[in-house]
Formats: sequence, C-alpha cells, structure tokens
Amino acid sequence: MNCLWRILFAAFVFADTTIKGEPNDRPIIGILTQEIDYKLNEQYPDQYHSYIAASYVKFVEGAGARPVPIWIDGTDSYYETILSKVNGVLWPGGSTYFNQSKGYADAGAVIYRIAKNINARGEYFPIFTICLGFELLTYVAANCVEHRTTCSSHNQPLPLEFTHDFRESNLFGNAPQDVIKILSEENVTANYHRYCVTMQDLNNVNLTDEFHVLSLNHDKNDLEFISTIEHKQFPFYGLQFHPEKNLYEWVTGKNIPHGSNATIVSQYFANFFVNEARKNSHEFRTKEEEKQSLIYNYPITYTALQNSSFEQCYMFKKNDRNGLVIENEV
Ligand SMILES: *[C@@H]1O[C@H](CO)[C@@H](O)[C@H](O)[C@H]1NC(C)=O
Ligand SMILES: *[C@@H]1O[C@H](CO)[C@@H](O)[C@H](O)[C@H]1NC(C)=O
Ligand SMILES: *[C@@H]1O[C@H](CO)[C@@H](O)[C@H](O)[C@H]1NC(C)=O
Ligand SMILES: *[C@@H]1O[C@H](CO)[C@@H](O)[C@H](O)[C@H]1NC(C)=O
Ligand SMILES: *[C@@H]1O[C@H](CO)[C@@H](O)[C@H](O)[C@H]1NC(C)=O
Repeated sequence: MNCLWRILFAAFVFADTTIKGEPNDRPIIGILTQEIDYKLNEQYPDQYHSYIAASYVKFVEGAGARPVPIWIDGTDSYYETILSKVNGVLWPGGSTYFNQSKGYADAGAVIYRIAKNINARGEYFPIFTICLGFELLTYVAANCVEHRTTCSSHNQPLPLEFTHDFRESNLFGNAPQDVIKILSEENVTANYHRYCVTMQDLNNVNLTDEFHVLSLNHDKNDLEFISTIEHKQFPFYGLQFHPEKNLYEWVTGKNIPHGSNATIVSQYFANFFVNEARKNSHEFRTKEEEKQSLIYNYPITYTALQNSSFEQCYMFKKNDRNGLVIENEV
C-alpha cells in the first residue's frame, strides 16, 4: 500500500495532473471558520459566533480558487458532505483554545479523519494549514493530545532554516530556486505565535515517522521550533508562519514583510495549495447549490477601522449556517 502510494506520488510529481483525468480548473476551497476572536467580540459585542479573516479568503482567490466557509459545530455528516463538494481545505490561524467544545479543534479532528479516508481511497484531497491551523494539524494527528510548547515569536519575520532533505517534498520539491533562495536568506516569513511545535514535541506524540519536517526556526529566546511540515502519506501541509499576511494584512507595528520578495514567496504557497486542490474533481451537485454555498453570500466588514489587526473579516451569526444547503445527507 505504502509502496503503491509512492509510485502514484512519483507519477504526480512528474505529470502534475490528477490521478484520473485533467486538472480541475474551477477549484473550490473550504475554509474552516473559527470561534469569534476575543478582540473582534470586543469590537462588535455579542453580534457574531464565528469568523474568517478575509486575508485567507483572498489568499485562496488570488491563486485561482473560490472559497466556501466550513462551519464549526457541525455534525459528522455535515463535514462528510461538505468535503465531498470542495477540492481542498484551509485551516486558518487565530487564537482559539483547542479544548473549547464544538469549536475549531473539534471540527478539525473530524475533517482530518474524513480527509484521510478520502485520500486513502485513492483521491487526492489536500489540507493546508497556517499558524494555529498548523498546530491543529499535529494536534489532531496526535489524537488530540496537547503537545505544544509555549514560545515567543511575535512580530518576528524570519528566513526558513531548511532541513537537509526539504527538497524531497511536495511543498518544496518543485519550488523555483529564487523562491528557495528568498525563503532561506531573507526575513520574509511572518511569525505571530505563542505556541510552537518542537522536534521533541513531535517525538513525544510519536509523529516523527508520520510527518516530514521541512524547516525549523528559532524564536526570540532561541527556542527551536518547526516552521514547515508535510504529512508523509497524505497531501497535508503546515506552515507556522502567515503567508496570507504578507499579501493582505496591513496593520502597522507588527513587522509584516511587504516587499516584492516577500510577496513572491507568499504567492508561491497560495499557488502551491490551489494547484494541489486542482487534483480532484469534487463538486457541488448543482451550480445553484455551489452559488448558495460560496462565501460571497456573506457580508465582509472593514475591521481595521475598529483597530482590528485584520484588514477585513467575514463574521458569521450563529444561524448563518442554516443557509448552507446540505440536504441528502447520509
Ligand atoms: C482550556 O485551555 C486553557 C489554556 O490552557 C485553560 O486556561 C482553560 O481552563 C481550558 N478550559 C477547559 C474547559 O478545560
Ligand atoms: C529578491 O530576491 C532575489 C533572489 O534571491 C535577490 O537577488 C534580490 O536581491 C532580492 N531583492 C530584494 C529587494 O531583496
Ligand atoms: C533578519 O532579522 C534579524 C533580526 O532582526 C537581523 O539580525 C538580520 O540581519 C535580518 N536579516 C536580513 C537578511 O535582513
Ligand atoms: C507514544 O508511544 C509510546 C510508546 O509506545 C506510548 O507510551 C505513548 O502513549 C505514545 N503517545 C501517544 C501520544 O500516542
Ligand atoms: C483606533 O486607534 C486610534 C489610535 O490609537 C484611536 O484614536 C481610535 O479611537 C481607535 N478607534 C477605535 C474604534 O477604537
């Protein structure tokens, strides 16, 4: 099985096409919502239940895909259904607790299990995770055993410290040399995290054989942490830093790199992810259902006007989820 997978994988890298047929040129990405942020809730008191920072939406759009929100607090059959219709899933960063019931982490655990099954039956279905999403990836892979270390990496732009075999990966295997040069030499990756996953943490939950660590970094106290990771068997990727901020967040005083090289490498990650999502042909049953599910059904708010560190956000009320068509669930 593992061997067969490796053969299929090699075919991918060289042909860069779907297992069956042509690339899907109308990819749709499911973006996992998150419990409303503490600060957003202060700025818009008790109005909203969940949100997606618009930078993640634009990240996906800017690489040629359309986003659909995936609600937290769904049933297993809701997640089964929505994953059968989208071409990949993005887990954004943020600041929620993993132990909050019916929240981001619970949804992530179910999505992870379903996405593994989809891939195991021969389809190619990516999950791309950023910052807290990256932490969630190893958390759910570890069967929800908390293993993060507290660390200090706020407003810290860093070059990646690549591991010796980082090129033997999906994420960087075909990356242009200038992208690798910029990533390894310039302070372009935007770090904002108070938890880290260290090599020791990964080892503590027995995940070193399951994941390939592609780069490391050091926080402000010189603590070494994992900054990019890829699952060895499935197209699941984690970045501890925020490529979407380089392109789409403009709050000042937080050291977000906005130079031309930072933009090039951030766009690389967006393009990479959306290209992965082009490798399956999941779709909504009807164009009407697709229209009713896209994020464009929901208003966007200019949150930076209220001094949010997010330029714009999609904020959802608890009953917004009722708009999502999910009949014929099994
Ligand atoms: C969740 O985790 C946070 C941070 O570790 C802790 O402060 C809080 O008490 C926990 N909540 C529950 C319900 O366990
Ligand atoms: C951008 O990256 C290229 C390739 O590494 C490098 O030659 C160039 O000097 C960089 N530009 C800036 C403005 O840092
Ligand atoms: C990156 O940032 C560090 C810490 O601020 C600084 O010492 C280093 O010179 C910077 N590197 C580059 C290439 O700008
Ligand atoms: C990791 O493996 C060890 C030894 O087999 C076991 O005792 C431990 O419970 C495992 N930890 C997790 C989080 O699975
Ligand atoms: C935003 O910050 C500015 C500068 O600190 C302050 O003057 C203004 O009142 C703040 N606006 C809101 C809505 O909090």
